[in-house]
Amino acid sequence: MKSEYDRYRAGSDSDPQPGRSRLVDREIRQTVGEFWVDKPRLRCRDVNVFYGTKPAINRVSIDIGSNEVIAMIGPSGCGKSTFLRCLNRMNDTIDSCRVSGTIMLDDEDINRPGVDVVLLRSRIGMVFQKPNPFPKSIRENVAYGPKIHGLARNRTELDEMVETSLRRAGLWDEVKDRLDEPGTGLSGGQQQRLCIARTIAVSPEVILMDEPCSALDPIATARIEDLIGELRENFTIIIVTHSMQQASRISQRTAYFHLGDLIEVAPTRRLFTNPRHQLTEDYITGRFG
Ligand SMILES: Nc1ncnc2c1ncn2[C@@H]1O[C@H](COP(=O)(O)OP(=O)(O)OP(=O)(O)O)[C@@H](O)[C@H]1O
Ligand SMILES: [Mg+2]
Repeated sequence: MKSEYDRYRAGSDSDPQPGRSRLVDREIRQTVGEFWVDKPRLRCRDVNVFYGTKPAINRVSIDIGSNEVIAMIGPSGCGKSTFLRCLNRMNDTIDSCRVSGTIMLDDEDINRPGVDVVLLRSRIGMVFQKPNPFPKSIRENVAYGPKIHGLARNRTELDEMVETSLRRAGLWDEVKDRLDEPGTGLSGGQQQRLCIARTIAVSPEVILMDEPCSALDPIATARIEDLIGELRENFTIIIVTHSMQQASRISQRTAYFHLGDLIEVAPTRRLFTNPRHQLTEDYITGRFG
């Protein structure tokens, strides 16, 4: 039997309101827009999440492409963080949380029993809202991942990885003379770049960022945004943000969530200038949230 997604792609029900040119009604919660890409790195199909008996994510299907920055936006509590945490199985750490549906990283089902979750999280790294460096030196923060994954053969290689990661995170010049000082002694913006360096040190394929700039001032935010643009050359980035301006500046596609439903996915400019769903329009014009 064809899935809803196959039918959607085949065009048989590609318009939830056939024959109508106005926005899709608020009551319709089927995702509109381009939620697939041609060669996805991640393919999510019918992902549901419950906390106990309370649903938090309802049948979300979306592809994430290579080397794209995709922004996830929506009102507080709509499930952005919950969905992001599905992608590297961070929800495993929450007892009441149950995830169903399929999430494929290339050809691998990440929820299959037997998947090495530590390895998975090195392939799909995460940067959190609040910078959370380990209570260790700057060097140790970055060297930790390569060490536990055995990525460096000797001290020289490890030092090179530390330097490369800090350079790519745009932090090297500020810390090169104080690598043995604690990571927690850096400013908030520097700590966030340290956390990004720590994440990229293990060469992940996908980086999840949950409001990475919300604790930063505009200058530190601008640096992280520039960095995201550069990282895109090598990584796929999924970023949750409350700032529509930020989504516009850094992402190629944007996904709009509403009360656990994925309402609309579209090229960022299109989503903000010409949304197809009434709920998206309500949100971007400030009528909700
Ligand atoms: N650990 C948890 N236990 C129980 N319920 C949770 C938990 N985490 C989130 N929820 C619930 O799941 C829903 C989605 O929450 P989530 O944190 O994913 O939203 P969000 O879109 O990231 O919001 P915000 O923009 O405020 O960060 C909310 O109703 C929230 O109360
Ligand atoms: Mg959140």
